Amino acid sequence: MNQISKLKMTGITKTFVTSEMQTHALQGVDLEIFDGDYVSISGPSGCGKSTLLTLLGLLDAPTSGQFILAGQDASALTINERATLRNAHIGFVFQSFNLIDELSVYDNIALPLRYRADALNDIEVNNRVKECLEKVKMSHRAQHKPNQLSGGQQQRIAIARALVNNPDILLVDEPTGNLDSTNGDAIMQMLAELNRSGTTICMVTHDPRYADFSTRKLHLLDGIMADELKMELAV
Ligand SMILES: Nc1ncnc2c1ncn2[C@@H]1O[C@H](COP(=O)(O)OP(=O)(O)O)[C@@H](O)[C@H]1O
Ligand SMILES: [Mg+2]
Repeated sequence: MNQISKLKMTGITKTFVTSEMQTHALQGVDLEIFDGDYVSISGPSGCGKSTLLTLLGLLDAPTSGQFILAGQDASALTINERATLRNAHIGFVFQSFNLIDELSVYDNIALPLRYRADALNDIEVNNRVKECLEKVKMSHRAQHKPNQLSGGQQQRIAIARALVNNPDILLVDEPTGNLDSTNGDAIMQMLAELNRSGTTICMVTHDPRYADFSTRKLHLLDGIMADELKMELAV
């Protein structure tokens, strides 16, 4: 077994402090994700799934613990260093799509390429965007605006945008939360297909039915990763 590690978290905690209270959202999470994995992290609302994905995606820093991504200790970076590392290595798909309504589908997908340290020329940008449009079967909608598309189509564009920089890993937060079951199932099929063709994925979901699409099912309870075997014995 020679699995290539994509990222590794050890003893990660996250505490949110407000004037009224402290919330211990993550209480010591260990997690390693390998090349080619399709990991799902499921658990009830409020158990810390989005918080964990936000840390994995370098959108926030942990309170304590170690996070190794692309051979670097990401837990101790400045905001700017985190953003650079994120753009180079992470693709993020949100429940609410987060597309920019004023931009065409094409320009939404091209956007992460514009923030690269090494500028791509227009031909390279065009090739990348077209390739990603094909991957999500949306080539015929390149010049549409997001609000001219269905929710399922918008999520496919959001996936294309997340893939355009060839990330090490695709992080997906409740991708079907805003979709009806037909569109939701189509998105899940698409993610499974992307994984079969080599994309490493980590998805969080509160829906056990969707966790079944993944190849490694993990469970989060009250900010702690529950052991897979223990969970199976408990049910
Ligand atoms: N920015 C924040 N400030 C304060 N508390 C937060 C913040 N984000 C999340 N929390 C709290 O942390 C806990 C975990 O939240 P979250 O990760 O969103 O759970 P999930 O995605 O599993 O529903 C919840 O109790 C939530 O209220
Ligand atoms: Mg959430």
